Amino acid sequence: MKKQTLMVAVIGALVAGAMVGGTTIALAQADVIKQRQDNRKETAATMRSIKGVIDAKGDVKAVVASAAKLKQLELAFDKLFPAGSDKGETKALPAVWSDMAGFQAASKNADAAYDKLAAAAGSGDLAAVTAAFGDTGKACGACHDKFRAKAN
Ligand code: HEC
Repeated sequence: MKKQTLMVAVIGALVAGAMVGGTTIALAQADVIKQRQDNRKETAATMRSIKGVIDAKGDVKAVVASAAKLKQLELAFDKLFPAGSDKGETKALPAVWSDMAGFQAASKNADAAYDKLAAAAGSGDLAAVTAAFGDTGKACGACHDKFRAKAN
């Protein structure tokens, strides 16, 4: 009798352990989804600040730092898609995981656009910055077209 009670207790503990484990994983996924969404929110805010400089015909040299910020965010971004984080409050499409190489290529493409934006900003030429900013926006859109669900 005593032995059986012990077994039940052990099994109970194992089940409880598994449930705790599951919750931890779910929390970690919610966390990583929030992190990548926050990363993109910051990316969008940085893009808006660049647009502000362009619209105001301001000092485009300031865009050098913004482009560096975009690069830094992009570098972190494609690491925020671990297996299993396709589940939850996310707009990331299954294609991110089924075509991870394509997704990373789209991220690299954006990264290259930030480099060109930084170079244009360094030149101090507003027209060049305006053109490079447009191309950067296209790099965002190219990834969204394939890998992000349309906003609704
Ligand atoms: C390599 C692909 C990729 C690139 C490049 C990319 N995005 Fe995204 N973006 C995504 C994905 C995927 C999501 C959805 C993330 C989620 O919901 O888990 C997203 C979400 C967003 C969101 C919504 C964030 C939220 O509030 O949930 C914004 C805003 C955004 N991106 C802006 C941008 C801007 C601006 C750029 C370019 C400077 C850009 N993105 C470049 C893939 C990309």
